[in-house]
Amino acid sequence: MTVRITYHGHSCFSFDTDTARLLIDPFITGNSMAEVRADDLNPHYILVSHAHGDHLGDTVPIARRSGATVISNYEIAHYMEEQGVKSHGMHIGGAYQFPFGKVKLTIAHHGSSFEDGRYGGSPCGFLLWLDGKVLYHAGDTGLFYDMTLIGQAGIDVAMLPIGDNFTMGPEDAIQAVQFLHPKTTILMHYDTFEVIAQDEQSVAEMISSQTSTRPAIMRPGETMTV
Ligand code: NI
Ligand code: MN
Repeated sequence: MTVRITYHGHSCFSFDTDTARLLIDPFITGNSMAEVRADDLNPHYILVSHAHGDHLGDTVPIARRSGATVISNYEIAHYMEEQGVKSHGMHIGGAYQFPFGKVKLTIAHHGSSFEDGRYGGSPCGFLLWLDGKVLYHAGDTGLFYDMTLIGQAGIDVAMLPIGDNFTMGPEDAIQAVQFLHPKTTILMHYDTFEVIAQDEQSVAEMISSQTSTRPAIMRPGETMTV
């Protein structure tokens, strides 16, 4: 049993198992880093970490076309129902066993308004148990010490923002790796906009030299099998 993780730029990934296709934070349209078109993605489930446009992105059109169920916080789930999209609302600290595996919402220190200013609930990260593998997508967040607790899940792959300004920057991301001690860390949420430009190679080298985690820089369109 394997999980195939495909990067689409920014914080967007596909997680494909033998039975399910998941998509997380599908910011495709308007994302200069994305290699796919929103029309080419056919997920069964879409996970949304918060309501900001660079994460909510193409969720509604993709879900309407594919029939995907949106998994997010209660407020975003409610918004999806209004849009005629199937959803499963959850909240921080809660886990649920879906047909494809288990999902738990974790804290994230950030904001979560919709584009019109409407309240988008608490931002979150996701801890996922898929086919015997444990994945952690941090969403948009600053560093928090409770990552130590999240790390107790025994993470195979962590996806961490390194862009700074809106989220953790490189130094805090390295501290996060030390708290989470995942086997592999994929860098995300950088270079999409000028204000979050980073030298990802040097961040990867620092992770290599200062932690026991394997850093991964994925190019949009690239797939990693775990
Ligand atoms: Ni955000
Ligand atoms: Mn963001």
